Amino acid sequence: MIKTDIVIIGSGIGALSVAGKLCKNGRKVTVITKGQRKLSNSSLAQGGISVALSKNDNYKLHYEDTIEAGCYINDKDAVMTLVSKAPEIIKEFIDGGMKFDTDSQGHLLFGKEGAHHLARIIHAGGDRTGLLVIEQLLKNLNENITLIENQMALDLRVKNGICSGVITRGDDKIINYYESNVTILATGGIGQLYPCTSNDITITGDGLAMAYRAGCELENLEFVQFHPTMLNIKGKTMGLISEAVRGDGGILVTKDHKPIMEGKHPMKDLAPRDVVSRVVYDYFLRGDDIYLDISNVKNFRNRFPSVTEICESNGIDLSKNLIPVRPGAHFHMGGVKATPYGETNIKNLFAVGEVACTGVHGANRLASNSLLEGIVFGNLLADKLLESSMKSEHFEDAISNIILGELPSKNEIQDKMMDFIGIVRHKNKIAEIIDWFKHYMPKDKQSMPFDKIDITKASNKEIEIYNMLTAGYLIAEAALKRDKSIGAHYITED
Ligand code: SIN
Repeated sequence: MIKTDIVIIGSGIGALSVAGKLCKNGRKVTVITKGQRKLSNSSLAQGGISVALSKNDNYKLHYEDTIEAGCYINDKDAVMTLVSKAPEIIKEFIDGGMKFDTDSQGHLLFGKEGAHHLARIIHAGGDRTGLLVIEQLLKNLNENITLIENQMALDLRVKNGICSGVITRGDDKIINYYESNVTILATGGIGQLYPCTSNDITITGDGLAMAYRAGCELENLEFVQFHPTMLNIKGKTMGLISEAVRGDGGILVTKDHKPIMEGKHPMKDLAPRDVVSRVVYDYFLRGDDIYLDISNVKNFRNRFPSVTEICESNGIDLSKNLIPVRPGAHFHMGGVKATPYGETNIKNLFAVGEVACTGVHGANRLASNSLLEGIVFGNLLADKLLESSMKSEHFEDAISNIILGELPSKNEIQDKMMDFIGIVRHKNKIAEIIDWFKHYMPKDKQSMPFDKIDITKASNKEIEIYNMLTAGYLIAEAALKRDKSIGAHYITED
């Protein structure tokens, strides 16, 4: 048994924001991550962080845009907490050394993205915001942190509604039992459940599946956001083309240069993502290619160095001003039900970042509110933990005797998810995919469909697939229950 005060699973913006504040205040923290420390969706984020800091803006306007994009089913108190605390927390981050892009007088530059009524997105290194934010947060860590890479969390250690740590396994195949007073899930979302995604390869719904097996309440799982513009190379997505490109004048067009968002929404190319994704997808289903026309974007290479690199490394000639795009899975609005302070229904277990569902995003997340959520709610969680002390319960782990049966491949799960639980869902087909998932449940399951399994008899890769099946099944069940379209959940009668 490895004893530690606080264990954080994940190394994205939520994880590192909590870790940074805790270690600065003398708390010992173990951060465990499945890949290398910089491999996360946060590092890949391009657009930036939305925050009401410009002189024409205030947090009430940010609130309005957040709930409008979320189709008004957001948790209004959580949204108010997010947007009102944001300016101060971001200023503190800047004072601590983070450099966002500024003009020649040192004033912050603000970009525009979908569903924002004004420019409020701060960015760094042009479109390298996520990576630079993560590098700064890593710099903020000190000797109180133990950072363990390439170790996969297999299950949470929960008994009688109290969490006492996590079980992990690394490349050395040794199973580690961590006993901690506080356990924080910060594992990110579920993007790799889909064949086309902006998400890092490590993002396979592990946190959601572990939380489910541990008895956590889950919420809003049916809401999966598709980003309208990923680079499309022969039907495969090869990276994100930031919405900020459209904010700077990019326009979605057909191969004959006809703008596709005319007449579709008053905000045209900067309509909420679910709206734009469905329009692009509709063309895609008809076999028509869609392009992002960047002829009106000034200073493209300097403003978008990541996008430039992604395009050129995939053979796109940017002098032609046309980038082929298609939608891909981007963000999960649902997750482990949590307060803005990370509290879940399990004692001593907290959730932060994309794995958590605080209700701030409602049915559809407003652009650049996800890095914001990670940093703001990460800070609030750290404050909460600094005010209180928690004690774990010691117990010996009982190993389940349930053995995994036959498993599908990752690709099979991804294709099924896209066909059945993708951008457009067909009422009659959802039950079909639920049956397909059920086929892979372990045969001697105890009480839950995807129950705890004997981790000693399954490899990390098999557990990853099992987590994908569990997360996919849960999303499908949630989609079946919501029979009316709203936001990112678009359902048709057939
Ligand atoms: C983007 O740069 O388009 C992504 C930003 C976000 O998902 O908030």
